[in-house]
Amino acid sequence: KEQKYYNIAIDGPAGAGKSTIAKLVAKELKFIYVDTGAMYRAIGLFAARNGINTEKETELGEAVQKADIQLKYEDGGQQVYLNGENVTEHIRTEEAGKMASAVGKVKAVREKMVELQKKIAESSNVIMDGRDIGTVVLPFADLKVYLTAESKVRAERRYKELTEKGISCNIEEIEKDIVARDYQDMNREVSPLKKAEDAVALDCSYMSIDEVAAAIISLYKKAVSVQ
Ligand code: DC
Repeated sequence: KEQKYYNIAIDGPAGAGKSTIAKLVAKELKFIYVDTGAMYRAIGLFAARNGINTEKETELGEAVQKADIQLKYEDGGQQVYLNGENVTEHIRTEEAGKMASAVGKVKAVREKMVELQKKIAESSNVIMDGRDIGTVVLPFADLKVYLTAESKVRAERRYKELTEKGISCNIEEIEKDIVARDYQDMNREVSPLKKAEDAVALDCSYMSIDEVAAAIISLYKKAVSVQ
């Protein structure tokens, strides 16, 4: 008999706290946390390094076949490898986020990433976050959450995070970038960011990280107990 693996899908706009929360939930439920944004970021890095214009879809679609992306789980954390090189830290910049959003518009890129993501979910209990998880990658997820927060709040959180790392930045610029990235992600042709019909919408603007994690765990327990 085929084993059933459980999965939780978390989608939402940039900076809503998806990864922070998904990590906490994963720890509590002993699931693997799959950060799919990191895969698009690695493809973005590949494009930047190879001087590929992200507006040239065919060129990018062909080039991406030479980008081998692998996710490895070491000490509970996800490590991203691009053609054998560990790029986990490299891809955490704002610039890499923009590049990821640009390459994420391309169908060939998405197909390759989605295939890999589905494969991971076939062999482990996962909580996966991204933009198309509930709609495309895990349409039969046990729980789908659409996590949002006001753009002002998201910009404040990102500002704090960057300043704490000693990176100087401008909060208005950050908010502008976040809004532009969301617009691009929500308005692309292929699997745009949107709430799956059966996803639970959670606005976490005025909730603490622990409150959001607890809410998701409780939703998940309820969802699997009625199956
Ligand atoms: O979650 P993140 O900020 O690391 O994602 C970076 C970009 O990658 C995001 O703006 C759009 C793209 N992305 C996507 O198109 N689909 C996903 N499942 C995850 C990310």
